[in-house]
Amino acid sequence: MYKILRKKQLSAVVWLMEVEAPLVARHCEPGQFIIVKDCEEGERIPLTICDYDREAGTITIVFQPVGVATNRFLTLEEGDGFQDFVGPLGRPSDIVEMSPEELASKKFLFVAGGVGTAPVYPQVKWLKEHGYDADVIIGARTKDLLFFEEEMRAVAKNLYITTDDGSYVHKGVVTSVIDELVADGKEYNHCVAIGPMIMMKFVCLTTKKYNIPTIVSMNPIMVDGTGMCGACRLSVGDEIKFACVDGPEFDGFKINWAEAMKRTQLYKSEEGRALLAYREGKTHHGGCGNCG
Ligand code: NAD
Ligand code: FES
Repeated sequence: MYKILRKKQLSAVVWLMEVEAPLVARHCEPGQFIIVKDCEEGERIPLTICDYDREAGTITIVFQPVGVATNRFLTLEEGDGFQDFVGPLGRPSDIVEMSPEELASKKFLFVAGGVGTAPVYPQVKWLKEHGYDADVIIGARTKDLLFFEEEMRAVAKNLYITTDDGSYVHKGVVTSVIDELVADGKEYNHCVAIGPMIMMKFVCLTTKKYNIPTIVSMNPIMVDGTGMCGACRLSVGDEIKFACVDGPEFDGFKINWAEAMKRTQLYKSEEGRALLAYREGKTHHGGCGNCG
């Protein structure tokens, strides 16, 4: 059992749990994720690692209860535990692989949208711990949905907060802040955007105007998380990739956004999965067991 040491509500819809998982904590890096299951018959839920403490042997996860499994997670209290906690999965973030010279040459801009604020945090924290600056934009639909303001302020060089409805600080979506920062003379040469797919698509359209290379963290539907089932298939440039093993980070300018968004919708129904299996042929895998 993977014991829950801390449970905290972060916003109107988002919860944090700190979980005892020493082996994952020893090996994980920013950008990676875990798959968690609360009981034998539970659904496997992929969640990005939001923070880790190698000495204490803990992993922090952040989730929004949307389906049955994540709503059941909410019933767990401190002292209870998860049955399975598999990871670290996926590839570490690009920044972890960069040389000190490359890191020093970067002017980083991180764009966090809604729940995507959680996976942005460990990357900005990692940069701060290694002596590098990063500006951060956090976008939330409304003030009640904003979280990690103080945590992010502690690790970011400059933090820009925006709400769609203007209920806190700035009014507008994250891309409006990018436009304003560039118009004010700010220069960036590396952007990382994490949030809903539609946000990441529009961030890429915006950063492309300013020639700022942009990395996105893709979270299509995942089943096994180990490259076997084919659920998380994506077209990146002219290649087929699987987010769980080749990502989750990719060059945002190469993502086929229309296909990624359509595929996520189709994968939710039996008919949609059958259509995908037909269209994708051998590259579909069908290993999730749901597609026939
Ligand atoms: P949301 O809908 O509240 O959006 C968050 C912010 O993104 C908005 O406040 C806005 O600033 C920006 N945004 C949204 N649409 C935009 C657009 N068209 N143009 C410019 N900016 C836009 O986000 P949420 O409800 O927290 O996110 C829910 C979705 O995000 C879920 O589908 C979840 O799976 C996904 N998610 C993705 C990741 C990831 O790793 N990519 C991580 C966590 C959550
Ligand atoms: Fe990626 Fe199954 S979740 S291949």
